[in-house]
Amino acid sequence: MSEQQSISYIAHPGGHLNGIIRVPGDKSISHRSIMLGSLGKGRMTISGFLQGEDSLATLKAFRAMGVSIEGPDELGRVIIEGVGMYGLKAPGQALDLGNSGTSMRLLTGLLAAQGFNVILSGDHSLSSRPMKRVTDPVKQMGATIETGSNGTAPLKILSNNKTQLQAIDYVLPMASAQVKSCVLLAGLYAQGQTCVTEPAPTRDHTERMLQGFGYELTVTELDQQRRKICLQGGGQLQACDIDVPADISSAAFFMVAASIAPGSDITLQHVGTNPTRIGIINILQLMGADISLANKQEVGGEPVADIRIRYAQLKGIHIPEEQVPLAIDEFPAIAIAAACARGQTILTGAEELRVKESDRIQAMVDGLQILSIDCYGTDDGMIINGGELGSGTVDSLGDHRIAMSFAMAALRAKGSITINDCANVNTSFPGFIKLAQNCGLQVDYVGEIVC
Ligand code: S3P
Repeated sequence: MSEQQSISYIAHPGGHLNGIIRVPGDKSISHRSIMLGSLGKGRMTISGFLQGEDSLATLKAFRAMGVSIEGPDELGRVIIEGVGMYGLKAPGQALDLGNSGTSMRLLTGLLAAQGFNVILSGDHSLSSRPMKRVTDPVKQMGATIETGSNGTAPLKILSNNKTQLQAIDYVLPMASAQVKSCVLLAGLYAQGQTCVTEPAPTRDHTERMLQGFGYELTVTELDQQRRKICLQGGGQLQACDIDVPADISSAAFFMVAASIAPGSDITLQHVGTNPTRIGIINILQLMGADISLANKQEVGGEPVADIRIRYAQLKGIHIPEEQVPLAIDEFPAIAIAAACARGQTILTGAEELRVKESDRIQAMVDGLQILSIDCYGTDDGMIINGGELGSGTVDSLGDHRIAMSFAMAALRAKGSITINDCANVNTSFPGFIKLAQNCGLQVDYVGEIVC
Protein backbone atom coordinates (compact mmCIF):
# COMPACT_ATOMS: atom_id res chain seq x y z
CA MET A 1 0.00 0.00 0.00
CA SER A 2 2.43 2.68 1.20
CA GLU A 3 4.82 3.32 -1.67
CA GLN A 4 6.72 6.10 0.16
CA GLN A 5 9.15 3.98 2.10
CA SER A 6 11.56 6.93 2.37
CA ILE A 7 9.69 8.96 4.95
CA SER A 8 11.61 9.72 8.14
CA TYR A 9 10.49 11.64 11.20
CA ILE A 10 12.73 14.05 13.06
CA ALA A 11 11.57 14.68 16.60
CA HIS A 12 13.27 17.51 18.46
CA PRO A 13 13.82 17.37 22.19
CA GLY A 14 11.67 18.97 24.85
CA GLY A 15 8.19 20.46 24.88
CA HIS A 16 4.97 19.35 26.48
CA LEU A 17 1.41 18.58 25.40
CA ASN A 18 -1.65 20.76 25.84
CA GLY A 19 -5.09 20.98 24.34
CA ILE A 20 -8.24 19.04 23.58
CA ILE A 21 -7.92 16.72 20.62
CA ARG A 22 -9.72 13.85 18.93
CA VAL A 23 -7.58 11.11 17.42
CA PRO A 24 -8.86 9.19 14.35
CA GLY A 25 -11.44 6.42 14.47
CA ASP A 26 -10.90 2.97 15.93
CA LYS A 27 -9.22 0.65 13.44
CA SER A 28 -10.73 -2.59 14.72
CA ILE A 29 -14.25 -1.18 14.74
CA SER A 30 -13.79 0.45 11.31
CA HIS A 31 -12.81 -2.88 9.73
CA ARG A 32 -15.74 -4.68 11.29
CA SER A 33 -18.24 -1.96 10.34
CA ILE A 34 -17.38 -2.44 6.64
CA MET A 35 -17.56 -6.22 6.90
CA LEU A 36 -20.86 -6.48 8.75
CA GLY A 37 -22.35 -3.48 6.95
CA SER A 38 -21.64 -5.20 3.62
CA LEU A 39 -23.23 -8.47 4.73
CA GLY A 40 -26.23 -6.75 6.32
CA LYS A 41 -29.58 -6.29 4.68
CA GLY A 42 -30.14 -2.67 3.70
CA ARG A 43 -28.46 0.70 3.87
CA MET A 44 -26.30 1.70 6.81
CA THR A 45 -24.12 4.69 7.69
CA ILE A 46 -20.78 4.67 9.44
CA SER A 47 -19.56 7.88 11.06
CA GLY A 48 -16.03 8.45 12.31
CA PHE A 49 -14.61 5.76 10.00
CA LEU A 50 -10.82 5.56 10.14
CA GLN A 51 -9.40 6.76 6.84
CA GLY A 52 -6.17 4.87 7.32
CA GLU A 53 -4.70 2.51 4.76
CA ASP A 54 -5.64 -0.63 6.74
CA SER A 55 -9.35 0.06 7.07
CA LEU A 56 -9.43 1.47 3.53
CA ALA A 57 -7.96 -1.85 2.34
CA THR A 58 -11.00 -3.58 3.84
CA LEU A 59 -13.34 -1.03 2.26
CA LYS A 60 -11.74 -1.52 -1.17
CA ALA A 61 -11.92 -5.30 -0.82
CA PHE A 62 -15.70 -5.16 -0.34
CA ARG A 63 -16.08 -2.72 -3.22
CA ALA A 64 -14.14 -5.21 -5.34
CA MET A 65 -16.69 -7.84 -4.27
CA GLY A 66 -19.53 -5.75 -5.66
CA VAL A 67 -20.71 -3.83 -2.60
CA SER A 68 -21.80 -0.25 -3.22
CA ILE A 69 -19.90 1.88 -0.70
CA GLU A 70 -20.01 5.69 -0.73
CA GLY A 71 -17.29 7.74 0.95
CA PRO A 72 -15.56 8.16 3.23
CA ASP A 73 -16.13 11.95 3.18
CA GLU A 74 -14.02 14.42 5.24
CA LEU A 75 -15.99 13.54 8.36
CA GLY A 76 -15.40 9.84 7.92
CA ARG A 77 -18.97 9.16 6.80
CA VAL A 78 -19.41 5.96 4.81
CA ILE A 79 -22.69 4.69 3.37
CA ILE A 80 -23.05 1.02 2.55
CA GLU A 81 -25.83 -0.75 0.65
CA GLY A 82 -25.59 -4.13 2.34
CA VAL A 83 -25.88 -7.07 -0.05
CA GLY A 84 -26.94 -9.68 2.50
CA MET A 85 -25.12 -12.82 3.63
CA TYR A 86 -24.86 -14.33 0.13
CA GLY A 87 -24.67 -11.20 -2.05
CA LEU A 88 -20.89 -10.82 -2.44
CA LYS A 89 -19.46 -11.36 -5.92
CA ALA A 90 -16.14 -12.83 -7.00
CA PRO A 91 -13.55 -10.02 -7.24
CA GLY A 92 -11.82 -9.58 -10.60
CA GLN A 93 -8.38 -9.92 -9.03
CA ALA A 94 -6.58 -10.77 -5.81
CA LEU A 95 -7.65 -8.65 -2.82
CA ASP A 96 -4.57 -6.63 -1.82
CA LEU A 97 -4.80 -6.05 1.91
CA GLY A 98 -1.55 -4.12 2.22
CA ASN A 99 -0.19 -4.16 5.76
CA SER A 100 -3.46 -5.14 7.40
CA GLY A 101 -3.45 -8.32 9.48
CA THR A 102 -7.00 -7.71 10.69
CA SER A 103 -8.33 -7.57 7.11
CA MET A 104 -6.60 -10.77 6.11
CA ARG A 105 -7.42 -12.80 9.20
CA LEU A 106 -11.08 -11.79 9.45
CA LEU A 107 -11.66 -12.17 5.71
CA THR A 108 -10.25 -15.69 5.82
CA GLY A 109 -13.24 -16.73 7.91
CA LEU A 110 -15.78 -14.48 6.22
CA LEU A 111 -14.85 -15.60 2.68
CA ALA A 112 -14.35 -19.31 3.40
CA ALA A 113 -17.71 -20.35 1.98
CA GLN A 114 -18.92 -17.64 -0.41
CA GLY A 115 -19.10 -19.91 -3.43
CA PHE A 116 -16.26 -18.18 -5.29
CA ASN A 117 -12.49 -18.42 -5.28
CA VAL A 118 -10.53 -15.52 -3.90
CA ILE A 119 -6.88 -14.69 -3.24
CA LEU A 120 -5.85 -12.58 -0.25
CA SER A 121 -2.46 -10.92 -0.61
CA GLY A 122 -0.49 -8.33 1.31
CA ASP A 123 2.75 -6.39 1.57
CA HIS A 124 6.10 -7.83 2.62
CA SER A 125 5.34 -7.61 6.36
CA LEU A 126 1.86 -9.16 6.06
CA SER A 127 3.20 -11.91 3.80
CA SER A 128 5.58 -13.02 6.52
CA ARG A 129 3.08 -13.02 9.41
CA PRO A 130 1.58 -16.27 10.72
CA MET A 131 -1.69 -17.23 9.03
CA LYS A 132 -1.97 -20.90 10.03
CA ARG A 133 -3.66 -19.65 13.20
CA VAL A 134 -6.65 -18.73 11.00
CA THR A 135 -6.37 -21.21 8.13
CA ASP A 136 -6.16 -24.23 10.49
CA PRO A 137 -9.53 -23.76 12.23
CA VAL A 138 -11.31 -22.68 9.04
CA LYS A 139 -9.95 -25.74 7.23
CA GLN A 140 -11.18 -27.87 10.13
CA MET A 141 -14.61 -26.43 9.38
CA GLY A 142 -14.33 -27.74 5.82
CA ALA A 143 -12.77 -24.87 3.86
CA THR A 144 -10.15 -25.35 1.19
CA ILE A 145 -7.33 -22.86 1.51
CA GLU A 146 -3.91 -22.91 -0.12
CA THR A 147 -1.08 -20.96 1.48
CA GLY A 148 2.57 -20.12 0.88
CA SER A 149 5.21 -22.61 2.06
CA ASN A 150 5.21 -21.52 5.73
CA GLY A 151 1.45 -21.21 5.90
CA THR A 152 1.79 -17.54 5.03
CA ALA A 153 -0.01 -15.27 2.53
CA PRO A 154 -1.01 -15.17 -0.23
CA LEU A 155 -4.01 -17.24 0.84
CA LYS A 156 -6.10 -18.87 -1.89
CA ILE A 157 -9.59 -19.59 -0.67
CA LEU A 158 -11.19 -22.15 -2.96
CA SER A 159 -14.93 -22.26 -2.42
CA ASN A 160 -16.08 -22.36 -6.05
CA ASN A 161 -17.49 -25.77 -5.31
CA LYS A 162 -19.93 -24.22 -2.78
CA THR A 163 -18.16 -25.33 0.37
CA GLN A 164 -20.56 -26.12 3.20
CA LEU A 165 -18.81 -25.31 6.45
CA GLN A 166 -19.49 -27.36 9.57
CA ALA A 167 -19.62 -25.76 13.01
CA ILE A 168 -16.62 -26.17 15.28
CA ASP A 169 -15.95 -25.99 19.01
CA TYR A 170 -12.58 -24.27 18.92
CA VAL A 171 -10.20 -23.54 21.79
CA LEU A 172 -7.90 -20.70 20.79
CA PRO A 173 -4.22 -21.60 21.22
CA MET A 174 -3.42 -17.93 21.90
CA ALA A 175 -5.38 -14.88 23.10
CA SER A 176 -6.21 -13.38 19.70
CA ALA A 177 -9.27 -11.36 18.76
CA GLN A 178 -8.38 -11.77 15.10
CA VAL A 179 -8.48 -15.56 15.29
CA LYS A 180 -11.62 -15.50 17.45
CA SER A 181 -13.32 -13.19 14.96
CA CYS A 182 -12.23 -15.26 11.98
CA VAL A 183 -13.81 -18.40 13.42
CA LEU A 184 -17.01 -16.58 14.46
CA LEU A 185 -17.38 -15.04 10.99
CA ALA A 186 -16.90 -18.46 9.38
CA GLY A 187 -19.42 -19.76 11.92
CA LEU A 188 -22.09 -17.46 10.44
CA TYR A 189 -21.94 -19.71 7.35
CA ALA A 190 -21.57 -23.07 9.15
CA GLN A 191 -24.11 -25.77 9.82
CA GLY A 192 -24.69 -25.95 13.56
CA GLN A 193 -23.37 -24.02 16.56
CA THR A 194 -19.82 -22.67 16.38
CA CYS A 195 -18.08 -21.93 19.67
CA VAL A 196 -14.75 -20.26 20.40
CA THR A 197 -13.08 -20.42 23.81
CA GLU A 198 -10.46 -17.78 24.50
CA PRO A 199 -7.71 -18.29 27.10
CA ALA A 200 -8.03 -14.66 28.23
CA PRO A 201 -10.41 -11.83 27.32
CA THR A 202 -9.51 -10.16 24.01
CA ARG A 203 -11.21 -7.24 22.26
CA ASP A 204 -14.85 -8.13 21.79
CA HIS A 205 -15.88 -5.71 19.02
CA THR A 206 -16.99 -8.54 16.73
CA GLU A 207 -19.35 -9.93 19.35
CA ARG A 208 -20.76 -6.50 20.19
CA MET A 209 -21.27 -5.54 16.57
CA LEU A 210 -22.86 -8.86 15.61
CA GLN A 211 -25.38 -8.30 18.39
CA GLY A 212 -25.90 -4.73 17.17
CA PHE A 213 -26.80 -6.21 13.78
CA GLY A 214 -29.36 -8.43 15.49
CA TYR A 215 -27.32 -11.64 15.43
CA GLU A 216 -27.73 -13.72 18.57
CA LEU A 217 -24.72 -15.10 20.37
CA THR A 218 -23.96 -16.29 23.86
CA VAL A 219 -20.93 -15.45 25.98
CA THR A 220 -20.18 -17.73 28.94
CA GLU A 221 -17.47 -16.90 31.48
CA LEU A 222 -15.82 -20.25 32.20
CA ASP A 223 -13.60 -18.75 34.90
CA GLN A 224 -11.93 -15.39 35.59
CA GLN A 225 -10.00 -15.47 32.33
CA ARG A 226 -11.60 -17.91 29.88
CA ARG A 227 -14.72 -17.02 27.89
CA LYS A 228 -16.70 -19.17 25.47
CA ILE A 229 -18.58 -17.44 22.65
CA CYS A 230 -21.16 -19.42 20.65
CA LEU A 231 -23.37 -18.65 17.68
CA GLN A 232 -25.64 -20.62 15.37
CA GLY A 233 -24.88 -20.52 11.64
CA GLY A 234 -27.39 -19.53 9.00
CA GLY A 235 -28.76 -16.27 10.41
CA GLN A 236 -29.10 -12.79 8.88
CA LEU A 237 -27.60 -9.41 9.72
CA GLN A 238 -29.91 -6.38 9.87
CA ALA A 239 -28.35 -3.09 8.76
CA CYS A 240 -27.35 -0.91 11.70
CA ASP A 241 -25.61 2.49 11.81
CA ILE A 242 -22.20 2.64 13.49
CA ASP A 243 -20.54 5.57 15.27
CA VAL A 244 -16.84 4.70 15.44
CA PRO A 245 -15.17 6.04 18.59
CA ALA A 246 -11.64 7.48 18.55
CA ASP A 247 -9.05 4.71 18.69
CA ILE A 248 -7.61 4.11 22.17
CA SER A 249 -4.57 2.59 20.46
CA SER A 250 -3.90 5.94 18.74
CA ALA A 251 -4.79 7.85 21.91
CA ALA A 252 -2.16 5.75 23.71
CA PHE A 253 0.74 7.69 22.16
CA PHE A 254 -0.63 10.95 23.55
CA MET A 255 -1.38 9.35 26.91
CA VAL A 256 2.24 8.28 27.23
CA ALA A 257 3.53 11.59 25.84
CA ALA A 258 1.56 13.67 28.35
CA SER A 259 2.61 11.34 31.18
CA ILE A 260 6.34 11.74 30.46
CA ALA A 261 6.54 15.46 29.58
CA PRO A 262 6.45 17.86 32.57
CA GLY A 263 3.80 20.57 32.19
CA SER A 264 1.52 18.45 30.01
CA ASP A 265 -2.27 18.48 30.35
CA ILE A 266 -4.21 17.06 27.44
CA THR A 267 -7.75 15.80 26.87
CA LEU A 268 -8.53 13.14 24.28
CA GLN A 269 -12.16 13.24 23.21
CA HIS A 270 -14.63 10.45 22.55
CA VAL A 271 -12.13 7.63 22.98
CA GLY A 272 -13.36 4.03 22.93
CA THR A 273 -13.03 2.63 26.45
CA ASN A 274 -14.24 -0.91 25.86
CA PRO A 275 -13.05 -2.93 28.91
CA THR A 276 -11.17 -5.29 26.57
CA ARG A 277 -9.04 -2.37 25.30
CA ILE A 278 -8.19 -0.34 28.41
CA GLY A 279 -4.97 -2.12 29.38
CA ILE A 280 -3.08 1.06 28.50
CA ILE A 281 -5.03 3.06 31.09
CA ASN A 282 -4.68 0.34 33.75
CA ILE A 283 -0.94 -0.11 33.16
CA LEU A 284 -0.14 3.62 33.10
CA GLN A 285 -2.16 4.12 36.28
CA LEU A 286 -0.21 1.32 37.98
CA MET A 287 2.93 3.21 36.94
CA GLY A 288 1.59 6.33 38.67
CA ALA A 289 0.05 8.22 35.73
CA ASP A 290 -2.53 10.95 36.31
CA ILE A 291 -5.46 9.89 34.11
CA SER A 292 -9.15 10.69 34.55
CA LEU A 293 -12.23 9.86 32.50
CA ALA A 294 -15.21 12.17 31.93
CA ASN A 295 -18.35 12.27 29.74
CA LYS A 296 -18.72 8.51 29.87
CA GLN A 297 -21.39 7.28 27.49
CA GLU A 298 -22.23 4.39 25.20
CA VAL A 299 -22.35 4.72 21.40
CA GLY A 300 -23.60 1.82 19.31
CA GLY A 301 -22.84 -0.73 22.01
CA GLU A 302 -19.31 0.58 22.69
CA PRO A 303 -18.37 2.67 25.75
CA VAL A 304 -16.58 5.98 25.11
CA ALA A 305 -15.17 8.74 27.31
CA ASP A 306 -13.01 11.85 27.26
CA ILE A 307 -9.62 11.02 28.75
CA ARG A 308 -7.56 13.69 30.51
CA ILE A 309 -3.87 13.05 31.15
CA ARG A 310 -1.56 15.26 33.15
CA TYR A 311 2.17 14.84 33.67
CA ALA A 312 3.20 12.63 36.58
CA GLN A 313 6.47 10.99 37.54
CA LEU A 314 6.11 7.33 36.55
CA LYS A 315 7.58 4.32 38.33
CA GLY A 316 8.63 0.94 36.94
CA ILE A 317 6.36 -2.07 37.55
CA HIS A 318 6.03 -5.73 36.66
CA ILE A 319 3.12 -5.47 34.22
CA PRO A 320 0.35 -7.89 35.29
CA GLU A 321 0.07 -10.58 32.61
CA GLU A 322 -3.73 -10.37 32.52
CA GLN A 323 -3.32 -6.82 31.20
CA VAL A 324 -1.27 -7.98 28.19
CA PRO A 325 -4.13 -8.88 25.77
CA LEU A 326 -5.96 -5.73 26.87
CA ALA A 327 -3.02 -3.56 25.77
CA ILE A 328 -1.55 -5.75 23.03
CA ASP A 329 -0.97 -2.91 20.55
CA GLU A 330 0.24 -0.43 23.16
CA PHE A 331 3.55 -1.97 24.25
CA PRO A 332 5.73 0.15 21.95
CA ALA A 333 4.28 3.25 23.64
CA ILE A 334 4.45 1.63 27.10
CA ALA A 335 8.16 0.89 26.48
CA ILE A 336 8.74 4.65 26.12
CA ALA A 337 6.87 5.27 29.37
CA ALA A 338 9.06 2.61 31.02
CA ALA A 339 12.24 4.24 29.69
CA CYS A 340 11.17 7.49 31.40
CA ALA A 341 10.02 5.84 34.64
CA ARG A 342 11.99 5.51 37.87
CA GLY A 343 13.15 1.94 38.29
CA GLN A 344 12.63 -1.22 36.33
CA THR A 345 9.67 -2.29 34.20
CA ILE A 346 9.24 -5.96 33.41
CA LEU A 347 6.97 -7.27 30.67
CA THR A 348 6.24 -11.01 30.48
CA GLY A 349 3.62 -13.13 28.70
CA ALA A 350 3.77 -10.98 25.56
CA GLU A 351 5.36 -13.33 22.98
CA GLU A 352 2.63 -12.25 20.51
CA LEU A 353 4.55 -8.97 20.14
CA ARG A 354 7.14 -10.85 18.11
CA VAL A 355 4.65 -11.45 15.27
CA LYS A 356 2.98 -8.06 14.92
CA GLU A 357 3.69 -5.68 12.00
CA SER A 358 7.31 -6.05 13.15
CA ASP A 359 8.97 -7.95 15.98
CA ARG A 360 8.01 -5.25 18.43
CA ILE A 361 10.17 -6.56 21.26
CA GLN A 362 13.28 -6.39 19.08
CA ALA A 363 12.31 -3.08 17.48
CA MET A 364 11.77 -1.30 20.82
CA VAL A 365 14.81 -2.78 22.53
CA ASP A 366 17.09 -1.94 19.59
CA GLY A 367 15.77 1.62 19.39
CA LEU A 368 15.91 2.26 23.13
CA GLN A 369 19.46 0.91 23.31
CA ILE A 370 20.49 3.34 20.56
CA LEU A 371 18.99 6.05 22.77
CA SER A 372 21.18 4.88 25.70
CA ILE A 373 18.48 3.10 27.70
CA ASP A 374 19.53 -0.01 29.60
CA CYS A 375 17.08 -2.65 28.41
CA TYR A 376 16.90 -6.10 26.86
CA GLY A 377 14.41 -8.41 25.24
CA THR A 378 13.31 -11.82 26.48
CA ASP A 379 11.39 -14.53 24.61
CA ASP A 380 8.07 -13.18 25.83
CA GLY A 381 8.72 -9.58 26.78
CA MET A 382 11.35 -7.05 27.79
CA ILE A 383 13.07 -5.54 30.80
CA ILE A 384 13.58 -1.80 30.75
CA ASN A 385 15.51 0.21 33.31
CA GLY A 386 14.33 3.80 33.35
CA GLY A 387 17.02 6.34 32.48
CA GLU A 388 17.83 9.39 30.42
CA LEU A 389 16.99 9.19 26.73
CA GLY A 390 19.80 10.29 24.45
CA SER A 391 19.62 11.17 20.78
CA GLY A 392 20.13 9.06 17.68
CA THR A 393 18.61 7.40 14.64
CA VAL A 394 16.23 4.48 15.12
CA ASP A 395 14.49 2.19 12.66
CA SER A 396 10.73 1.73 12.87
CA LEU A 397 11.03 -1.39 10.67
CA GLY A 398 8.05 -0.03 8.74
CA ASP A 399 5.85 -0.48 11.83
CA HIS A 400 3.44 2.41 12.46
CA ARG A 401 3.32 1.97 16.22
CA ILE A 402 7.12 1.82 16.60
CA ALA A 403 7.45 5.05 14.59
CA MET A 404 4.88 6.98 16.64
CA SER A 405 6.29 5.72 19.95
CA PHE A 406 9.80 6.98 19.22
CA ALA A 407 8.36 10.33 18.09
CA MET A 408 6.92 10.70 21.61
CA ALA A 409 10.23 9.73 23.23
CA ALA A 410 11.81 13.00 22.03
CA LEU A 411 9.78 14.91 24.62
CA ARG A 412 12.22 13.62 27.22
CA ALA A 413 15.35 13.12 25.12
CA LYS A 414 18.61 15.06 25.36
CA GLY A 415 18.79 15.54 21.60
CA SER A 416 16.85 14.92 18.40
CA ILE A 417 15.59 11.49 17.44
CA THR A 418 15.43 10.51 13.76
CA ILE A 419 13.04 7.68 12.98
CA ASN A 420 13.34 5.92 9.64
CA ASP A 421 10.71 4.10 7.54
CA CYS A 422 7.62 5.89 8.85
CA ALA A 423 5.27 5.76 5.82
CA ASN A 424 3.12 3.08 7.44
CA VAL A 425 1.92 5.51 10.11
CA ASN A 426 -0.77 6.12 7.49
CA THR A 427 -2.10 2.61 8.04
CA SER A 428 -3.64 3.62 11.37
CA PHE A 429 -3.10 7.33 12.01
CA PRO A 430 -3.51 9.66 9.03
CA GLY A 431 -2.62 13.22 10.05
CA PHE A 432 -0.42 12.10 12.94
CA ILE A 433 2.33 14.68 12.40
CA LYS A 434 -0.06 17.63 12.17
CA LEU A 435 -2.01 16.61 15.26
CA ALA A 436 1.18 15.99 17.23
CA GLN A 437 2.56 19.40 16.20
CA ASN A 438 -0.73 21.11 17.11
CA CYS A 439 -0.59 19.90 20.67
CA GLY A 440 3.07 20.62 21.32
CA LEU A 441 5.37 18.02 19.83
CA GLN A 442 8.30 19.32 17.84
CA VAL A 443 8.22 16.66 15.19
CA ASP A 444 8.44 16.88 11.41
CA TYR A 445 9.00 14.58 8.49
CA VAL A 446 11.27 14.39 5.50
CA GLY A 447 9.91 12.69 2.41
CA GLU A 448 6.43 12.74 0.96
CA ILE A 449 3.27 12.00 2.92
CA VAL A 450 0.06 11.14 1.07
CA CYS A 451 -2.64 11.81 3.65
C1 S3P B 1 -7.02 -6.76 16.31
C2 S3P B 1 -6.55 -7.69 17.20
C3 S3P B 1 -5.17 -7.71 17.69
C4 S3P B 1 -4.45 -6.41 17.42
C5 S3P B 1 -4.69 -5.90 16.03
C6 S3P B 1 -6.17 -5.67 15.80
C7 S3P B 1 -8.44 -6.84 15.86
O1 S3P B 1 -4.47 -8.76 17.06
O2 S3P B 1 -3.06 -6.58 17.63
O3 S3P B 1 -4.00 -4.69 15.83
O4 S3P B 1 -8.95 -5.87 15.28
O5 S3P B 1 -9.05 -7.89 16.08
P1 S3P B 1 -4.50 -10.25 17.64
O6 S3P B 1 -5.89 -10.61 17.80
O7 S3P B 1 -3.85 -11.09 16.60
O8 S3P B 1 -3.73 -10.19 18.93
